[in-house]
Amino acid sequence: MTDGDRDLTRRAFLASVAAAGAALTVGPPSGAAAKAAPLTRPIPATGEPVPVIGMGSWGTFDVGGSTRVRDTRVEVLEAFFENGGGMIDSSPMYGSSEEVIGYCLRRLPDTGSLFSATKVWTPFQWHGVKQMEASEALWGEDRFDLMQIHNLVNWEGHLETLLEWKARGRVRYIGITTSHGRRHRDFEAVMAAHPIDFVQLTYNVLDREAERRLLPLAAERGQAVIVNRPFRRAELFRRFGHHPLPPWAADMDCANWAQLFLKFIVSHPAVTCAIPATSRVDHMRENMGAARGRLPDEALRRRTIAYVESL
Ligand SMILES: NC(=O)c1ccc[n+]([C@@H]2O[C@H](COP(=O)([O-])OP(=O)(O)OC[C@H]3O[C@@H](n4cnc5c(N)ncnc54)[C@H](OP(=O)(O)O)[C@@H]3O)[C@@H](O)[C@H]2O)c1
Repeated sequence: MTDGDRDLTRRAFLASVAAAGAALTVGPPSGAAAKAAPLTRPIPATGEPVPVIGMGSWGTFDVGGSTRVRDTRVEVLEAFFENGGGMIDSSPMYGSSEEVIGYCLRRLPDTGSLFSATKVWTPFQWHGVKQMEASEALWGEDRFDLMQIHNLVNWEGHLETLLEWKARGRVRYIGITTSHGRRHRDFEAVMAAHPIDFVQLTYNVLDREAERRLLPLAAERGQAVIVNRPFRRAELFRRFGHHPLPPWAADMDCANWAQLFLKFIVSHPAVTCAIPATSRVDHMRENMGAARGRLPDEALRRRTIAYVESL
């Protein structure tokens, strides 16, 4: 680590701790916790609150045209909104997911808390415009809350379009995404130099590379952070799910591994929300439980890492 790195980390850490102390709504412990409003974090650019647990849609909502299967996803989304869900994340890369999300949203009585987030994913700037318009039609949204440049594909071109769209009120926030730890140096350079509202990246109890530079930089730059692959696409359950929860799980109001994995993520001071994906109502309810009750402090976060690494 260079002196510059250390400086960045220290300044960002101090800023993020101060911001988290002011921003995080810590709910009551379990029991009452189940009925309380979800924990939220403010979007740094505006202060608008976002529930700390959102929803991804890769694979889980790419179910094609079967009405029978689509209707099971309506139930999953119903459970999401019943539990105070906000952000839904998708992409034109995810097959039929955007169409299926639109199908579900049209069938639900109350989607007022929706925070719509999708991506532009094409090498051509002109095609990006067509793609974003197509996504609006598929979801049934007049404009997205958040439009992200998927995996930095032609980020220069799409950023030019999106800054213009944002100035016209055509989209509310703009962001960039990466995952699996890919292209962090390029990602960091875009974060540092451009007026990005949101970044999306991978962070979980095993994949902690983002702690080193990207999370401190997001805090310093006032950029909201969405965390993808919170379960490493179910691998965390396969590796650790058959082991007992650590004894301090109860102190974090965690009744299961899903909540432990998610609370580990959203308790990082720079993180705004996590977006676990699921095709099941029972899993959705478990996941949304992580938006309630107490979160681990830094000591419990470190003990949780040590525990899973010992299994
Ligand atoms: N570059 C990018 O922009 C990028 C890259 C990757 C991901 N993403 C976004 O991030 C989202 C999340 O990442 P991901 O879908 O790769 O993986 P993930 O959310 O880490 O894992 C999803 C898997 O976990 C299982 N699961 C969910 N809740 C569970 C629970 N309570 N108990 C047991 N299993 C559970 C799901 O199976 P069930 O269906 O059986 O519940 C599914 O197989 C994506 O859907 C996508 O929206 C973006």
